[in-house]
Amino acid sequence: MTRWTDGARPGEAPPWEAFGVDAARLPRHVAVIMDGNGRWARQRGLERSEGHRAGVEAVRRVVRAASRLGIPALTLYAFSAENWKRPAAEVQFLWQLLADTFRRDLPELKENGVRVRVLGERGGLPEPVQAALSAAEEETAANDGLTAAFAVNYGGRQDILRAVRTAVREAQEGRLQPDEVDEAWMAARLATAGLPELDLLIRSGGEMRVSNFLLWELAYAEFWSTPVLWPDFTAEDFYRAIADFQQRERRFGGLPE
Ligand code: FPP
Repeated sequence: MTRWTDGARPGEAPPWEAFGVDAARLPRHVAVIMDGNGRWARQRGLERSEGHRAGVEAVRRVVRAASRLGIPALTLYAFSAENWKRPAAEVQFLWQLLADTFRRDLPELKENGVRVRVLGERGGLPEPVQAALSAAEEETAANDGLTAAFAVNYGGRQDILRAVRTAVREAQEGRLQPDEVDEAWMAARLATAGLPELDLLIRSGGEMRVSNFLLWELAYAEFWSTPVLWPDFTAEDFYRAIADFQQRERRFGGLPE
């Protein structure tokens, strides 16, 4: 079993200091669009599935880095509601990989106090995948370290629509008045309920799209994109994103101080 340390030997500075990260001013919630697995594989003459397999290693690096740094919440986009459009064999491979990874990594996540959360419509997933995800959630529920949320079969619009349907249903039943539907009501009904406000969105693979991810939550988040393909993404790239975030002046619609 591996206990994650900050990677520094006694007396040495932790690894993020060289990148200018101030561990006293961390984002509370970071989300990641993990793009570029397919291109990484194609560049090497490999099947796309090999890109996804290598992508899992990058997931491990980033979960460890976020946990060591002390970031409260990390949300990773593992499978979008639109990813079903991919060839059936690739979709099948991704499910298998997800279930295998959760089963294999669960002891290490538990050991390091990580609390796993799953966002998205899990009812539509193959039964063994649902079982692996639920086991990870249940067995880590009492942990108080990093919350690692995995968005699977997730879509931002779908998530908002689900909350709106709940509101209409409750209103029809006379249990909800229009004025009660405010930002706090909405936030409490989204898949991310209970997670800290989203501060930073990282996207690998060079695109500048939001791709139906966390649409409500992104309102005041900072965006950081890198051309690095996901399987090549390292803890150092993560530290770069955090350091860049810490340079930004966030105004939340107000004027500079
Ligand atoms: C995007 O790359 C990536 C995905 C659709 C899946 C992300 C999945 C993983 C990183 C592995 C499994 C995850 C976990 C949490 C264990 P792409 O295929 O769209 O790449 P491309 O844009 O280069 O084609």
